This record gives sequence, structure tokens and C-alpha cells, in this order.
Amino acid sequence: MEFCHISVLLGESIDALNIKSDGVYMDGTLGGGGHSSEIAKRLGENGRLVMFDLDETAINFAKKRLEPFNCQKTFVHNNFKNFLSVMDDEKIGGFDGIILDLGVSSYQIDTASRGFSYMQDGELNMAMDEHARLNAEIVVNEYTESALERIFRDYGEEKFAGRIAKAITTIRKTKKITTTKELAEIITNAIPARARFGAGHPAKRVFQAIRIEVNGELEGLKEGLLSMVRNGLNTGGRLAVITFHSLEDRIVKEAFNLLASDCICDKKLPVCVCHHKAEVRLVSKKPILPSPDELKNNPRSHSAKLRVLEKI
Ligand SMILES: C[S@@+](CC[C@H](N)C(=O)[O-])C[C@H]1O[C@@H](n2cnc3c(N)ncnc32)[C@H](O)[C@@H]1O
Repeated sequence: MEFCHISVLLGESIDALNIKSDGVYMDGTLGGGGHSSEIAKRLGENGRLVMFDLDETAINFAKKRLEPFNCQKTFVHNNFKNFLSVMDDEKIGGFDGIILDLGVSSYQIDTASRGFSYMQDGELNMAMDEHARLNAEIVVNEYTESALERIFRDYGEEKFAGRIAKAITTIRKTKKITTTKELAEIITNAIPARARFGAGHPAKRVFQAIRIEVNGELEGLKEGLLSMVRNGLNTGGRLAVITFHSLEDRIVKEAFNLLASDCICDKKLPVCVCHHKAEVRLVSKKPILPSPDELKNNPRSHSAKLRVLEKI
């Protein structure tokens, strides 16, 4: 199968990184290599690009795509949150720029056998890393009703989280739930008929929630971002993060605001006691959004937001 993924906010994020031809860069979410190719194109032989992905298939595709570029390339099959140990192993002192294009690729969603899609039938899986121990089948069949309800509410902002969790735990008493189609049907039937249609497919939010749980997408994200700035970026280095839903964007915004604040004291205190100093400058105060052209040509860009900071 072709690796189809149209990179989102590509020009905007690459411009924002201010790439120097001999700099050291990190792409934490390699995917189809769209952003990495644009970085590699701007690097000379002394430039270096370190690329992470949890998905080995993505790494194999991107390796081929990046072949024509002669900068120094390192592919890492690991979570970008483990960047510190990779810096240590690879003797990297610091990065001049880091890009994170969070979430899943269109290739992962469109490949039915990966089990991410409520639109196609496939085994319930949803793990970005095909060797991961946790997958969607385990979450759906083994988590307690209250754990499912919490996940659907917290990671999917699903109004009918309780009803859907109850429907799943009732059905799995008689039969293991093993396919995306079965799960999508159970979710749809658990939602009151009047609320089934409107904001996209009725199973969209629960599928998002399960995917976030399976891949631990929000766990340690804030700490990871803080550490990337404090321990990963060189002074003057930039961090660009693209998010696709409000939960993710909220975490990125909070981490960026914390790093950019001169004082993080409780607002009620009359004087500053924290002596915190801003560690970064926000390159744009508001998130950068896709252009009307991009919105027209790539439906996946609709919810995208790009935030960029520079270490000072
Ligand atoms: C939106 S796609 C990236 C697309 C890429 N920027 C491009 O233009 O082709 C996200 C990719 O990041 C990977 N990914 C998501 N979270 C990750 C994490 N914490 N660590 C490593 N890879 C991750 C996914 O497996 C997926 O391949």
C-alpha cells in the first residue's frame, strides 16, 4: 500500500523552524517524512536530522523518501518522549529545532488492518507501535465499565460516555468485541437516536479516546515538552508543535505559557515569590492556523493548530 499522508501546516512549520544548514534538528513524529524531507532539503552535509516514530512501517517508508538527502540522518523507533536517552546515546549536545506533528497519520487511519478507523472494518488494534503490548481490543474487552466511562469522557469529551461504557460491558459478557465495525455499531446504538448525527460519525469521539489511551498520547506530554525546551533545545532553538484536538492543544498551550512566564505565583499573592524567569519567547502569541487553501485541499487540516516558541 502507498504511504498516503498530506503534511499539515508544512510551509508554516518549516519557516517557523528557521533552519540553519549546519544545524541539528529533531522530528519527533516522522510519519510519512513530509516535514523531515523539507528539513533535510535545507540541511547541508554537516547538518543533522534525528527522526522518531513509534511505527516501524512509517520509518521504513520515510527512510526511502529521505534517501536523496545527504545530511546526517538518524532514525529512531521510539517514543519522542525518550529523546534524552537518544541524545545521550548519539552524543547530541542540543537541537536547533524540534518539530512535533502530533497524533496519527492518514496512512495509519486509512489502513483498515491497523484498526484505527470507524469507517472501515478491521481488527481492533489502534497501536501506533505494532509491537506494543496494549491495544484497543484489550481496552474494550478488559477495562472496567468505570475506566471506560472515564476514558470516553476525558479523552473523547463524549457526552454519552456512561451509556456507551455500559453497552460495551453488557455485550462483551456474551461475546468478545474484536472488530472496529462491531465497536462502531455498539457505540452508535448506545447513543440516543436524536444525538447520533451532527458533529461527524457518532463513534468518532470514542475512537479518538481509545486511541489516546492505547498510545498514552497525553501522558507525560506536558513534562516532555518542558524537558525538550530545558534539556533538548539550544539557546535560540525553536520548538514547533502541531495539534489536532483541543485536549492536546490545551496541554501544549499550558506548557508554552508556563515557559514564557516571568512569574508563576498564585495571582492572589501581592508580590512575586517564585522568581521564575521566562525561558522562551512565543514566536506567535496566537496559534497559527491552516490557510483557506489548505483547508479546502486537506480536510484533515481542519482542526490543526501550530504553536512555536524560541528558547532564550
Ligand atoms: C501526524 S503523523 C506525522 C506526519 C509527518 N509529519 C509527515 O508530514 O509525514 C504522526 C506520526 O507520529 C507518530 N507518533 C505519534 N506520537 C508519537 C510519539 N509519542 N513518539 C513517536 N512517534 C509518535 C505516529 O506513529 C505517526 O506516524
